[in-house]
Amino acid sequence: MTSAGSGERDWYTRAGVRRDPRRLLRDELGAGQLYFPPDLIPYAGHPLVLALPEPAREALAARHLFQYLGFTTHFETEVVNRATQRIATGRSGVDTPAETRLDAFRIYCDEGYHALYSFDVIRQIADASGVEPVPYDFAPFRERLDAVGVEALPGQPVLAQLLQVVVFETLVTAILNDVPKDPRVLTVVRRIVRDHARDEGWHHAFFARFFQELWARQSPAERVRVARCLPGLVRSSLLPDLRPVRAALTVAGLGAAQVEEVVRDSYPRAATERAMREAARHALRLFEETGVLAVDGARDAFLTAGLLTESEGDGP
Ligand SMILES: [Fe+2]
Ligand SMILES: [Fe+2]
Repeated sequence: MTSAGSGERDWYTRAGVRRDPRRLLRDELGAGQLYFPPDLIPYAGHPLVLALPEPAREALAARHLFQYLGFTTHFETEVVNRATQRIATGRSGVDTPAETRLDAFRIYCDEGYHALYSFDVIRQIADASGVEPVPYDFAPFRERLDAVGVEALPGQPVLAQLLQVVVFETLVTAILNDVPKDPRVLTVVRRIVRDHARDEGWHHAFFARFFQELWARQSPAERVRVARCLPGLVRSSLLPDLRPVRAALTVAGLGAAQVEEVVRDSYPRAATERAMREAARHALRLFEETGVLAVDGARDAFLTAGLLTESEGDGP
């Protein structure tokens, strides 16, 4: 395959890990700056949450940020770099030239750095605010993601891991887009999300090309399996992980029944599905262009998963 990404010269001068300083919390706590945009915290406006005392609501917002950063720390190291190191070390099953492997090592460094500063900012804010993160166990999320691959691609764990990363690296979430633009949010948070989004634009191009190469190597029978696996991977990457939400609401002082009420009201199915489709639109375009959706049964699988609407499903 040809070299993916924007090449050596750009990375050494433009990657966040090469260029950006350590981002430090300014003296903004208590000055009215927010931990996270309230419109990106689905339960922030729920009456039961609004009825909590102010310090508990503040801590909830901090813990929402911690949960996002904690998820990022784990996802980068345990999922993205699990597959990226296979490409980098020439064990992906795709015959990659040295330049592509070098790019994969660069991405490996990027993702390690994203994990580092996500954890760094959790600690800076926790130490300064006194709000400790709720302990976060990433294993159930990773196991749910891995289960999709085990079921749809039995005996091909590496292929499933590569597809997980292609899917995740071509998703565009509202957080990466919106947090850096929100002047109400703590500067350190806006900075690291902006730093992260810049690197991800480059990763997106790399993994889109990698996927085209991977797809070209699959037999017709494998393509059917891959195409039917992808919707489940998109869904399991994007559906909100509600365990840490419940834990944070409980620590904030809500009882079990109230926690369930807040979760039920704050994550309505239609809105969750809409947000998922929105975040997946670039991935869907890649699958369309690569020919994934032309495979027998693929369009139906994406329709059933709620990733295409009926009108798109009838398309060419
Ligand atoms: Fe990243
Ligand atoms: Fe990435």
